Amino acid sequence: MKFEWLESAPSGQPLMGIFVNHVIGHGVDLVDVQRIATSVREHGARFLERCFTENERNYAATSAKREYEHLAARFAAKEAVLKALGTGWSRGIGWTDVEVVRAPSGEPGVKLTGVAAQIAAERGITRWLISLSHTDTHAIASVIACGPSAGYDEATHGNR
Ligand SMILES: CC(C)(COP(=O)(O)OP(=O)(O)OC[C@H]1O[C@@H](n2cnc3c(N)ncnc32)[C@H](O)[C@@H]1OP(=O)(O)O)[C@@H](O)C(=O)NCCC(=O)NCCS
Repeated sequence: MKFEWLESAPSGQPLMGIFVNHVIGHGVDLVDVQRIATSVREHGARFLERCFTENERNYAATSAKREYEHLAARFAAKEAVLKALGTGWSRGIGWTDVEVVRAPSGEPGVKLTGVAAQIAAERGITRWLISLSHTDTHAIASVIACGPSAGYDEATHGNR
């Protein structure tokens, strides 16, 4: 595995042991809020528990007015993470393997478990950057997967 280190900041100040993160993957997804509302109405708890973790469901339920927007944003985040992982749903990843967590400031983060965590580890992903936005009609998520190395080898994956 190849690591790159910053020897010094642009100012010339030495930086001790800071990895230059590589972008390993990027994913974006746009979700129709009404589609999520319809799924909740038609399938209720079965849909909610299959797609969202308890924390995600509890957070969305705190805002009756925006519940479906919060859920749609998290649904988009899960799809975007799958794109960034580069596997789609092909390897048996469960919806709840990808959780959107929240810092006290409201800033979102990504927590992976199960097969999703295993694939991320195989790809050398150690950090996720995520941003969410939603209106009453649409929710969007953008995620960037980062790691200490480029995470792929050109012989197998070619240029991309
Ligand atoms: C963060 C903020 C700009 C969101 O803007 P908005 O137009 O109201 O709402 P959007 O639909 O575009 O985004 C909502 C999402 O922003 C994200 N968000 C909330 N606080 C955030 C923060 N501090 N940093 C990054 N993202 C944040 C959340 O994921 C939220 O989705 P959720 O409510 O479903 O969890 C707004 O809540 C705000 O001004 N917060 C206070 C200031 C702040 O903390 N700014 C830091 C980020 S610039």
